[in-house]
Amino acid sequence: MELSETQLSEHFEATIARQGRIEPRDWMPDGYRKTMIRQIAQHAHSEIIGMQPEGNWITRAPSLRRKAILLAKVQDEAGHGMYLYAAAETLGTDRADLTERLIDGRQKYSSIFNYPTLSYADVGVIGWLVDGAAICNQVPLCRSSYGPYARAMVRICKEESFHQRQGYELLLTMMRGSDAQKAMVQESVNRFWWPSLMMFGPPDAQSPNTERSMAWGIKRHTNDDLRQRFVDMTAPQADRLGVTLPDDKLRWNEARGHHDFGEVDWAEFKAVVGGAGPCNADRIARRQAAHDAGSWVREAAMAHAAKH
Ligand code: 3HC
Repeated sequence: MELSETQLSEHFEATIARQGRIEPRDWMPDGYRKTMIRQIAQHAHSEIIGMQPEGNWITRAPSLRRKAILLAKVQDEAGHGMYLYAAAETLGTDRADLTERLIDGRQKYSSIFNYPTLSYADVGVIGWLVDGAAICNQVPLCRSSYGPYARAMVRICKEESFHQRQGYELLLTMMRGSDAQKAMVQESVNRFWWPSLMMFGPPDAQSPNTERSMAWGIKRHTNDDLRQRFVDMTAPQADRLGVTLPDDKLRWNEARGHHDFGEVDWAEFKAVVGGAGPCNADRIARRQAAHDAGSWVREAAMAHAAKH
């Protein structure tokens, strides 16, 4: 029996209301499909572009052990990108088209990856802060209403916790080292702290998508809530490491039961998201070059598929 559009829409809303899962073959509003493609594709792009900053240190890791750990982590990020492109394709998109949208700027990737990795301590700080922020943001996405996305998140979050721990352990080792190593870690934290807070997106009041995404069960918490959760989780870790987070307004507020912290530089955020970050052009140029260099593989695979 054919259901009417109204009945289909009512069934969708009832599924969302009972925190059920929307699956690829289910009816869904065009806006839901569009938002899911946007968020999943940009998440995938972030994973792929995110390989560049850390990849920069693979050949210069200080020991075979550190090199092996970093190789494993960067490889994981590639895998995360592939899962997420596969999840996006269940919505009727095609990763070739998504890659084109990334390269020509019609789709975004996380601003954090537009900052340079200037010292080896950045490898630890990215693991600790960037993957730490990713975990804060991604664990709730394991309960996202779109089935393939939520299931991809479960696997990704397990690997993210390894990423965060290896970064923290690397920094703990350096903070037990020489004064020069300790200074290298502090200098890296000073560069990455505020850009890590920008990963959670603009303030809720300036977010055009959050309200809708919360109503559709895509997001389970707002940008500001997750940012606060990350600050509360990270501040005590910084104390244990013996580093200072570069925010003189950061302090525990007993009455709130949270840390107060300073204002993010939203002009910097807008500039970096808009393409004016330190590494935006370089990241896209590298992505374009890798895509071009891999064209023979795609052609060979297509030719093989066409013959069989
Ligand atoms: N960098 C770039 N763009 C950003 C951004 C950031 N840090 N924060 C927000 N934006 C963009 C949004 O994409 C949106 O633009 P669009 O409408 O053209 O897509 C605009 O700014 C407004 O932001 P909103 O908060 O309204 O948008 P969302 O509701 O989509 O929230 C988000 C943004 C919190 C990033 C959300 O999309 C999300 O949770 N995405 C999934 C997680 C993700 O993509 N993380 C990126 C990092 S991946 C990573 O860390 C890998 C790890 O291995 C290190």
